[in-house]
Amino acid sequence: MSSVPESHPAPKGAEAFGDHLANVLNHGALCLMLSVGHRTGLFDGMRGRPASTPHEIAVATDLAERYVREWLGAMATAGIVTVEPEGPRFALPPAHAACLTRAAAADNLAVFAQYIAVLGTVEDRIVAAFRTGAGVPYERYTRFHEVMAEDSGQSVLSSLESDVLPLVPGLTDHLERGIRVLDVGCGRGRIINRLATLYPRSRFTGLDLSAQAIEHARAEAAAGELTNVEFIEADAAAMDRHVEPQGYELITTFDAIHDQADPLAVLQGIHRALMPEGIYLMQDIRGSGQIPGDLDHPLGPFLYTVSCMHCMPVSLAQGGPGLGAMWGEPRARDYLERAGFRDIRVHQLAHDPQNNWYVATR
Ligand SMILES: C[S@@+](CC[C@H](N)C(=O)[O-])C[C@H]1O[C@@H](n2cnc3c(N)ncnc32)[C@H](O)[C@@H]1O
Repeated sequence: MSSVPESHPAPKGAEAFGDHLANVLNHGALCLMLSVGHRTGLFDGMRGRPASTPHEIAVATDLAERYVREWLGAMATAGIVTVEPEGPRFALPPAHAACLTRAAAADNLAVFAQYIAVLGTVEDRIVAAFRTGAGVPYERYTRFHEVMAEDSGQSVLSSLESDVLPLVPGLTDHLERGIRVLDVGCGRGRIINRLATLYPRSRFTGLDLSAQAIEHARAEAAAGELTNVEFIEADAAAMDRHVEPQGYELITTFDAIHDQADPLAVLQGIHRALMPEGIYLMQDIRGSGQIPGDLDHPLGPFLYTVSCMHCMPVSLAQGGPGLGAMWGEPRARDYLERAGFRDIRVHQLAHDPQNNWYVATR
């Protein structure tokens, strides 16, 4: 994702605003269809295919023709696929396949469209929570960990060696030689498993509260025959009970601080678990910390929506402060300083308009 279209064109007058909202309605609906196209393999099946009838596409993808035809209606009216009246026949242009298929790897935006459907599964609970102020626990979100793993597979894994590791000068040399690394809130463990594969002399630990996610992470490590990685199912706020004090040269969190039960306690635990001069690498959502300061954020509406319907309620459900995804850079710095970190540097990566990358020293 190199650049993102303007998110609030600020139309003037009721008629223009009505047109704008009609567009919003179309695009909201379209997100569900993009998600379906990704999950069913329709985009992958149409990549490189000549213009084909719904029947031919259904046969090629082993799907029910009636559903495929209706989905193609959404795709064609939105300009995602082209349509030839004869047949009719549909095709996915190569430029669109480059943004919507598994072959597009890190550029596959259909992965992110899945969040809209995931958030829809908890809408009733969120509506109720608007009245009670209560949270919604992680386990209520169908497929969250699966989609999150796909998301970080694109936003982190794809650039791990080229952009992320170089944020810490000399880190790859240390990893080659052999150090200890902890990833807090590791989810399904794809990042830590990749690191364990790349650097066999280093030892890696992933920690997460979710039993389901940890089970998945362990299975992936076992499938890769990795012997230098372990996973701990635990509350990060109580990590002292599970990890060695001053035991790690590098600790990472990828999008895992703002939705914690006790973000400050987690950062303090990370500080204690680092060796003197150890490095903490924190990827977290980019924001100004003030709604007026986020008006030009290229992903503002998307990120505030994910925050309102996931990041904030999952923290509240754990008795946490519900910082929300858009807690912002000033607050993140303040938390890091209060946890004892010094020399805090904030980086941005060109491919990733969604996140800031904080590098802090113990
Ligand atoms: C947004 S996800 C990021 C997952 C992973 N780092 C990635 O990038 O794919 C946040 C993770 O924090 C974990 N988490 C939330 N509260 C936690 C807690 N109290 N202790 C440990 N992990 C927690 C969740 O289970 C989830 O896997």
